[in-house]
Amino acid sequence: EAKAQDGTSAFSFSEVAAGVDADHHVAEGYDADVLLRWGDKVFADAPEFDPTNQSKEAQERQFGYNNDFVGFVPIDGSSEHGILVVNHEYTNEHLMFPGIVTITDGKPTIAPADKARVDIEMAAHGGTIIEIRKEDGHWTPVLDGRQNRRITATTPMEITGPAAGHDRLKTSADATGRAVFGTLNNCAGGVTPWGTYIMSEENFHGYFLGELPEGHPEAANYKRYGVPGGSYEWGNVYDRFNLAKEPNEPNRFGWVVEVDIEDPTSTPKKRTALGRFKHEGAESIVAPGGQVVFYLGDDERFDYVYKFVTAGTYDPQNRAANLDLLDEGTLYVARFDEDGSITWLPLLHGEGPLTAENGFASQADVVIETRRASDLLGATPMDRPEDIEPNGENGRVYVMLTNNTKRKEANAANPRVDNAFGHIIEIAEADGDFAATRGTWEVLLQCGDPSVAEVGATFSTATTENGWFGMPDNCAVDSDGRLWVSTDGNSPKATGRTDGLWAVDIDGAARGTSKLFYRVPVGAEMCGPRPTPDLTTFFVAVQHPGDGGDDWDGFGRPSYYEDLSTRWPDFRDDMPVRPSVVAITKRGGGKIGA
Ligand code: FEO
Ligand code: CA
Ligand code: CA
Ligand code: CA
Repeated sequence: EAKAQDGTSAFSFSEVAAGVDADHHVAEGYDADVLLRWGDKVFADAPEFDPTNQSKEAQERQFGYNNDFVGFVPIDGSSEHGILVVNHEYTNEHLMFPGIVTITDGKPTIAPADKARVDIEMAAHGGTIIEIRKEDGHWTPVLDGRQNRRITATTPMEITGPAAGHDRLKTSADATGRAVFGTLNNCAGGVTPWGTYIMSEENFHGYFLGELPEGHPEAANYKRYGVPGGSYEWGNVYDRFNLAKEPNEPNRFGWVVEVDIEDPTSTPKKRTALGRFKHEGAESIVAPGGQVVFYLGDDERFDYVYKFVTAGTYDPQNRAANLDLLDEGTLYVARFDEDGSITWLPLLHGEGPLTAENGFASQADVVIETRRASDLLGATPMDRPEDIEPNGENGRVYVMLTNNTKRKEANAANPRVDNAFGHIIEIAEADGDFAATRGTWEVLLQCGDPSVAEVGATFSTATTENGWFGMPDNCAVDSDGRLWVSTDGNSPKATGRTDGLWAVDIDGAARGTSKLFYRVPVGAEMCGPRPTPDLTTFFVAVQHPGDGGDDWDGFGRPSYYEDLSTRWPDFRDDMPVRPSVVAITKRGGGKIGA
């Protein structure tokens, strides 16, 4: 419980004032430099960004849309030279394409997408792998970097693990059930101890439209995942996104994807052993026994917290020996008990209810229908599990639970009904062993405005009016064991402030104290942060700046926020708002936040 009266914070920076405006803001004494914007070149020969003349070919050579997860893989251990990996979660058509929004009687409509627009949207999804270097105190992309690569919704990928080759994954384009084009809605992710890039497929349901043939056996499976979501028009152009025409395609999404960034021609692998759900992220740590443990959230109201423990052990001397560790291991789902204990329940075919009688003929069925398997095991339905990060310094694990306004009954692990602001749980694995199947937990923070008693927020009393936040989404535990929390959902309407990055004390008398370090422009959400190993740079991702809802097209129309709109980061009449990755450094050098 966070109840500190005072106690010295681990963070000595001066707080940013919470609020809302068109620009981003970082704590005094720090620089926040835009490093990569949507449309920026990823290769030396890429075309210059021209928002009025976009094409699939150009977008495939440029930085994609809606940067979410940011990872940094140092080159030779450097904190000034490395490979940046960035997910491009989704596209906001109304912010991307000029002139497609029409407003009639105050109601916006977006012009239907043609094939050219769909192709640009698909090319703006996926991820970017790009070499970056710090020169004269400022980070710049290295456009001729050997490892530079764009991954999109059409990149050929291999399906591996228990579901590979299963009939339920076969389509007319792929009779093997092992080859799929692209990855979708890559939200948070991870970098493995062996330096590969993990892209988690989150809200894949939105890309499908149409109806399954009458009586199709996948009907119950798809219902559990909200397929078809119908958020995109791709299915009008490509049959594979239309359930009536290609009913198995949705089983090929919802996985964790591993990319070997060392070889820019490598085939990314969808690792089905880690289950199929709306994967938020996949941060990992090496357990004392050498197994690698991945923490996984399924971001939906009343869904679950998972972890995957590799069967094999990590070999720091032999990178190649680690490259397929993610194909064998045990996937567990969490049951949080009222007494403060946690039990990790194994999702193993043939154990307990996971049998043929219940529709699970093999482990392939268990991973394809991970949610239903977890329902039967009695896992604890949570308030939207987002990013989860292990802390190698204290042996604990931090779980972001963003909100759940549909919760009608509270329990110990989800202590508030109508939970609008979310909370953070801290797990202590038994004996500090991340591979353990038992442990204990407590609620670290109930989020929201502590000055409104009904909200029930539990920030320490040392937390200022700028320091509280709602809707924790991403987090980072840095190499000093300090916790940083990024939010998604703070807005003029929700909390009177934008999203941002907060530093949260977890130790001693200051536990539960939070301070605002950086905030985003109006309409944006905050993703990241990703610190360099020496903690002198934090990379953060500003996602969908200017997105205030349907009545704002990013090209200068009055916004949802009435008098507040933005053209961040260029502030040019001929440029739309652009999602961007920002590098934060301390003026004169030194550790961030200290
Ligand atoms: Fe894409 Fe769960 O945030
Ligand atoms: Ca997220
Ligand atoms: Ca994270
Ligand atoms: Ca989010």
